[in-house]
Amino acid sequence: MEQTETAGRRSSRRAFVLGGLAVGAGTIGVGRLLADPSAAFGSGGLTPGDAAILRFLAAAEILETDLWQQYNELGGIQDSEVSGGSGSAAYTDALGVLDSDMDQYIHDNTEDEFTHFTFINAYLASKGADTVNLDRFRTLPSSKATGAQQIGRLTNLMQLTVDTSWWTRYRSRTKNPDFGDTFPQAVPGLSQGQFPAIPRNDGDLAPPDHLQAIANTAGFHFAFIEQGGTSLYPSLAQRVTHPEVLRILLSIGPTETMHFQTWMDKAGNAPALTDPTNGLVFPDLNAAPFGGEDFQTNLIMPEPTIFLRRTFPVCSIIRPTETDGVAMGALKALTANGLFIGQPPPFFTALHELAEAADAARHGS
Ligand SMILES: [Fe+2]
Ligand SMILES: [Fe+2]
Repeated sequence: MEQTETAGRRSSRRAFVLGGLAVGAGTIGVGRLLADPSAAFGSGGLTPGDAAILRFLAAAEILETDLWQQYNELGGIQDSEVSGGSGSAAYTDALGVLDSDMDQYIHDNTEDEFTHFTFINAYLASKGADTVNLDRFRTLPSSKATGAQQIGRLTNLMQLTVDTSWWTRYRSRTKNPDFGDTFPQAVPGLSQGQFPAIPRNDGDLAPPDHLQAIANTAGFHFAFIEQGGTSLYPSLAQRVTHPEVLRILLSIGPTETMHFQTWMDKAGNAPALTDPTNGLVFPDLNAAPFGGEDFQTNLIMPEPTIFLRRTFPVCSIIRPTETDGVAMGALKALTANGLFIGQPPPFFTALHELAEAADAARHGS
């Protein structure tokens, strides 16, 4: 009885986020997969584990797309490839201080994210598996700044707490988060408090150092997001079963890394300043107490570090890549980032369930 109730609750919660197959092929497919994974795999379907990993990735990519679209509407190139906004010249100029091609890179990163979730959902559907749809949670407000579409959003870019320890993590030659090591913040102020990464309204377009602080926040946030994807794909790839699913993860994951390296380079150009409206400080990362190899801004490739065992020679690697609990870890990191401030409990329940299922997946099952 209790088991039945639990199953009923699960399936009603699944209905919140799983969809896209109106004819019911998804429901039938998953039922078969749960009943007999080996038969389903043999018939060209996915193992339950592979489907769960792909669904978590689809959800993560939908969330990424939502945030990148908000950046593109105000700070990217406005065209038919990534449509929606009309741009904010002042915000685009402030981003341009980090690199004159920022608008192009924001546009291209946004388009990439659209293709990631669209592809993964299409692949799931092609295997008769449930797809992911988070549309019912598009309820968060848009920026009121000129240039932004007024539509419901999944993510909140106006109250961010940005972990900037990726900066020192990729510059360390002696530490690795998979060994339990921790890393200092490049911008300590950004890792506490809540800051906008897009102008909340046209009042945020001045004074100049306030707007530049918003653009700098975006610059560090871009890299935070993309380093997350850079680790997530290799971490999950260790537990997929089907060679084609492995190929998908190994082919999308490195594009996240291409994004990350670009953004790591641009964040290093964020000018040192103090936001006069809230005291947020962007330090000169080349000067004391920063500076030295852990902070110097022209390092945009990973420093080699310890990997697997301390006794092995150091190796230039993505880190972390530990696979246990990685989906839940990613969800926690995005939540701590403030991206979901304003979302109701069912949103977190739905994402929690997708992460739990992905983390339960094992190679071969
Ligand atoms: Fe992506
Ligand atoms: Fe990404």
